[in-house]
Amino acid sequence: MMKDEIKEVLISEEEIQTKVRELGANLSKEYSESFPLVVGVLKGAMPFMSDLIKRMDIHLEVDFMDVSSYGNEMVSSGEVKIIKDLNTSVEGRDVLIVEDIIDSGLTLNYLVELFHYRKAKSVKVVTLLDKPEGRKVDLTPDLAGFIVPDEFVVGYGLDFAERYRNLPYIGVLKPEVYQG
Ligand code: XMP
Ligand code: MG
Repeated sequence: MMKDEIKEVLISEEEIQTKVRELGANLSKEYSESFPLVVGVLKGAMPFMSDLIKRMDIHLEVDFMDVSSYGNEMVSSGEVKIIKDLNTSVEGRDVLIVEDIIDSGLTLNYLVELFHYRKAKSVKVVTLLDKPEGRKVDLTPDLAGFIVPDEFVVGYGLDFAERYRNLPYIGVLKPEVYQG
């Protein structure tokens, strides 16, 4: 079974759901007047985005970006390639970017600057996980669910070689899984 490959559960399903409800309530207040454009960063943000918007009791619009950083699986290079752009114009909109994790901050830094350049009215960031020790640029999310240590984590959207995104919790893999 997939769960036998997990060394440790860092954040349980229940803890995630409680936090998502709290974030959703905050965001409902923040955006009660503004019909925000909520932008999920594929693929990792998909489960978080899905749960989060259901906890936002306001009118909103959803859209998605798929970006990849040049570099390998575990280390991001800072150069960002757009795989799928938004369908919607951000001009004059309040944009909320939804991320699974901020590590170096390079991906998000690129997106924030891109949306400002495209004349968004405001750009804010909500991330489920924040790994501040990994930071290479000065970027602080407006809202973060949990701070995680500088360890590779999987589950609830986060993958290792495209697997484990469907775990309902955040965990750390057993070392033998990486060693194949
Ligand atoms: P940066 O470094 O640009 O990266 O903030 C954000 C993206 O890097 C990936 N990432 C991880 N993926 N477990 C993962 O499965 C991790 O511990 C991890 N740390 C960074 C992720 O794709 C994220 O969107
Ligand atoms: Mg990713």
